[in-house]
Amino acid sequence: MVVSPVSAPAVRVEGVVKRFGSTTALAGVDLEVAEGTVFALLGPNGAGKTTLVRVLATLLEPDAGRAEVFGRDVVREAVVVREMLGLTGQFAAVDEILSGRENLLMFGRLFGLSKAETRRRAEELLAQFELADAADRPARTYSGGMRRRLDLASSLLTRPRILFLDEPTTGLDPRSRNEIWTTVRELVREGTTLLLTTQYLEEADELADRIAVIDHGRVIAQGTGNELKDQVGGQILEVQLASAAERDRARAVLAAVGCGEPEPSERPDRLTLPAPRDGLELIEEAAAELRRARIEVSDLGLRRPTLDDVFLQLTGSPPSEDGAGSRSAADEAAIDHVEHSTVGRRSAPIVRLRPPSRRELRSAVTDAGVVTARNLRHFIRQPQLLIFSTIQPIMFVLLFVYVFGGAVKGSLPKGVTYVDFLLPGIFVQSVAFRATQTAIGLAEDLERGVVDRFRSMPMARSAVLLGRTLADLVRNVLIIGLMIGVGYAVGFSFHAGVLQALAAVAVVAAFGFALSWIFAFVALTVRGAEAAQAAGFVVIFPLVFASSVFVPVATMPGWLQSFSRVSPVTLTADAARSYSLTPGIPSSLGETAAWVGGLLAVFIPLCVWRYRRMS
Ligand SMILES: Nc1ncnc2c1ncn2[C@@H]1O[C@H](COP(=O)(O)OP(=O)(O)OP(=O)(O)O)[C@@H](O)[C@H]1O
Ligand SMILES: [Mg+2]
Repeated sequence: MVVSPVSAPAVRVEGVVKRFGSTTALAGVDLEVAEGTVFALLGPNGAGKTTLVRVLATLLEPDAGRAEVFGRDVVREAVVVREMLGLTGQFAAVDEILSGRENLLMFGRLFGLSKAETRRRAEELLAQFELADAADRPARTYSGGMRRRLDLASSLLTRPRILFLDEPTTGLDPRSRNEIWTTVRELVREGTTLLLTTQYLEEADELADRIAVIDHGRVIAQGTGNELKDQVGGQILEVQLASAAERDRARAVLAAVGCGEPEPSERPDRLTLPAPRDGLELIEEAAAELRRARIEVSDLGLRRPTLDDVFLQLTGSPPSEDGAGSRSAADEAAIDHVEHSTVGRRSAPIVRLRPPSRRELRSAVTDAGVVTARNLRHFIRQPQLLIFSTIQPIMFVLLFVYVFGGAVKGSLPKGVTYVDFLLPGIFVQSVAFRATQTAIGLAEDLERGVVDRFRSMPMARSAVLLGRTLADLVRNVLIIGLMIGVGYAVGFSFHAGVLQALAAVAVVAAFGFALSWIFAFVALTVRGAEAAQAAGFVVIFPLVFASSVFVPVATMPGWLQSFSRVSPVTLTADAARSYSLTPGIPSSLGETAAWVGGLLAVFIPLCVWRYRRMS
């Protein structure tokens, strides 16, 4: 357990500003959460709730101001902060392909629990969250409520000191919502500090010791539920008039019995007023006075205030659809002031200056292993992916051998058949096209919030990327194996023995590994699986076709030859071909190794940098 400075609050936020381009999501937020309490951030869509949670969970760096969790700075001491927090994001970040149990086992290992401890905790949580019966079903078959519960369980594996819950009950039915509320209360009894966001005043009131109302990226009111409701008027009286003409008279009568100013309403025959007094007495008096004044009423009732009422009272207008964006010049000046007062503050170092400790190294290896195993499981659970991954190269083999084989024959080196020439090229082609899958897989993880969960955990930062590229390496070797099988069926064979054959596979796999890092970078940069795939094909298509994969470079026009000869695809295909057909070391091996080494040296740091700076 991490020891924090004595008396530091669980959360302290001072003047936090966060901008996304021209949108100011947080415009100078200040708040404090005492340890062991529940704090609710209440606000409409776009108010900045998620952004603040992401800052506190170390996923986003504020542009100005500072935020601390148990006295630790979320930017400078992000690693320590991650060890203390649990995060359940706005959208359930569960792995859809894995079962509920597998999700918990994976996250437990990544939280640094031992295998035995992980298993024990997973069973406990499955029972506690009523997921035991569905534990072995893939999470994609879960209902919304089950997903939420699994998501919450995943955040509780290590019993965090503070839990961030971003809209834990939005979209849930009343029963599931009550279950979440019960869990939240239990956690608080056990001493966990909770910061939750919600759009429902009722929820904030039900669960939280203190509530901050947030709008346009700033806190507009703060207090206990009762204090806030007192501002709104405790309860709301709704009066439906038989005639809109009576509105002003009704308003005067109701003011006399203690009601506040009516909320602005689009319907003149309806009055919605804060009712600060005891409900029953008020409604009796209101009804009597209205009758005495001969004002006809078709409906009269009390209800609890909603977020809309709070906003109407606090700001004079209902919450706008998108909180950020519309801001006055005075607001902007205030933000500038906050930013200037914190200029010169730190930023987390982009490149680590000290070498990792042995413990960190061991955890990096374990984490990468866990993520690799998870990605391989995805691959095994989706056999259709493997089938489609091999259909295309098989089609190329058949088309090229039987359609173009005759035409190309004349330009081949002496004594080499087209199928022997083609197959090593097909290996390279397979891994090159498959590299786009690295981008798609990573982009999907980003979209589904799985990466956010990884990033909020005290795990090795490199593990997510390494786990992805290593799993793709294993898959590539598998696909090459399959293509060798297909090759033998159409007359291909290795001519220089097993070791040379293995070397051919190794050189192609190494090239595929380097390509995976390029595509991981594409996914981290362009965002979105489809965009990543499209961007990938734009690069891969010309590279593969303008190379020696299908035909000897000598058959191409001169201007293309000069490009093709130095292309890493050509060099790798030539090296693999030489290993397959002749003994000895291929002449293009040095250049191939230089390409692979160079690509890795450039793209691994680029990926790690992008991953750390992601917003
Ligand atoms: N990564 C991002 N890039 C650009 N704009 C963003 C990003 N994240 C948030 N925003 C913008 O910042 C503002 C605050 O968004 P945020 O998600 O924090 O609101 P929220 O209160 O969580 O809303 P909701 O209730 O809809 O979840 C919005 O205008 C949103 O469009
Ligand atoms: Mg949100």
